[in-house]
Amino acid sequence: APGFKVAILGAAGGIGQPLALLMKMNPLVSVLHLYDIVNTPGITADVSHMDTGAVVRGFVGQPQLEDALTGMDLVIIPAGVPRKPGMTRDDLFNINAGIVKNLCEGIAKCCPKATVNIISNPVNSTVPIAAEVFKRAGTYDPKRLLGVTMLDVVRANTFVAEVLGLDPREVDVPVVGGHAGVTILPLLSQVKPSCNFTKEEIEYITNRIQNGGTEVVEAKAGAGSATLSMAYAAVKFADACLRGLRGDAGVVECAFVDSQVTELPFFASKVRLGRNGVEEIHQLGPLNEYERAGLEKAKKELSGSIEKGVAFVRK
Ligand code: APR
Repeated sequence: APGFKVAILGAAGGIGQPLALLMKMNPLVSVLHLYDIVNTPGITADVSHMDTGAVVRGFVGQPQLEDALTGMDLVIIPAGVPRKPGMTRDDLFNINAGIVKNLCEGIAKCCPKATVNIISNPVNSTVPIAAEVFKRAGTYDPKRLLGVTMLDVVRANTFVAEVLGLDPREVDVPVVGGHAGVTILPLLSQVKPSCNFTKEEIEYITNRIQNGGTEVVEAKAGAGSATLSMAYAAVKFADACLRGLRGDAGVVECAFVDSQVTELPFFASKVRLGRNGVEEIHQLGPLNEYERAGLEKAKKELSGSIEKGVAFVRK
């Protein structure tokens, strides 16, 4: 069947399982590879009974990683450990950095031309880690490496719609910067449909978006971080990548990419997705004073997280 070959690495996890479910339902997917270090045989048997087009294959453990990756067009990575209450995304660094490095070494070897969507946190550091691994392997294509910040956009649309009394599907909120705390910068002056928020509304919405992940971590009380909304956002983003690869015109989403929008080497902003991955990176547009101050704060923190990722691979 025509369509794309997609692998999910970390497919047995809280994000990975609903992600597998939703990708199996995506008509653009012809082959779906589910890889994890545990439990993929059962999940694969389960998902494979769904009467949709994608052929599902399971792979378990490091010795099967290469088979899982060979021939893939898109690789989605939610592998890693999630946050517990009191932890920041940066606290995950030591474990997840090694996992992402290992998986990206596999990608460089087995499917160097694949588009890669990174979900494993801290995304602000794991994307630079992936880039550094690909650079060392000589396979780095900045157009093909994307950190998934879509959940910040999904939350922003929901929270803004709530304040405006609109259907979230009618709302478009650009969210730039990074994917942790103050690095998440919603541009509320650029919301569509255009609207005038009060200062209180701006502070409330901005804080809620920046702390949306923590809201879920605390509500789950030790059972992990966002999984269902994250899987939804990841599939929305993966679908946009696949439509771009198919050649659809005008596919634009926010993503954390190799960028020249600011002086930082990586930054999230709106990007146009096409046959080659990221084909155009949008500029930030006019910012108000509140957003300019937010941008300075975001850049300061982001710069440290990026350097930490690069240093991890170089050490
Ligand atoms: N290779 C593949 N999979 C791995 C590896 C590895 N080296 N190490 C761990 N995993 C798998 C685990 O076996 C588990 O099935 O990753 C999965 C992670 O699932 P959960 O622990 O349920 O975590 P989840 O809530 O899905 O979050 C995963 O995504 O949003 C981020 O912050 C989150 O970094 C975390 C990641």
